Amino acid sequence: MNERLLHAAQDVLKHAYVKYSNFPVAAALLLDDDTIITGVNVENASFGLTNCAERTALFTAYTQGYRKENIKEILITTAKTHLVSPCGACRQVLSELMPKEALVHMHHGNNITTVRNEELLPLAFSEEDL
Ligand code: THU
Repeated sequence: MNERLLHAAQDVLKHAYVKYSNFPVAAALLLDDDTIITGVNVENASFGLTNCAERTALFTAYTQGYRKENIKEILITTAKTHLVSPCGACRQVLSELMPKEALVHMHHGNNITTVRNEELLPLAFSEEDL
């Protein structure tokens, strides 16, 4: 795991907009040109409109013109010491916007648990189902 990813995520954790849950989450993406793109969760008084950190980072990368094949790894961090893994909605988005073999690192305390993207959502619904 690239140490820069962890530091980048930890740097932006303080920018999470978490008025309602007080549960800051940050994500950092590593791209194939070594660029790192970060994201935080951004909540809303209409709770369902909250954007998770993972989706903020991915949508920012796509906004800058990066695509699935450019994405190597994503790291997710919180202030908690237990493992926090992506929610179901984010798993669906990760499954489409990142390669199957991309690494998903979940940082907790002094540990990092890593899985491949395809392990997060077996039998995912995809564009091939349309
Ligand atoms: N959240 C994320 O940003 N990413 C995750 O992987 C889990 C949950 C956010 C959504 C909400 O703002 C807060 O954490 C509590 O659910």
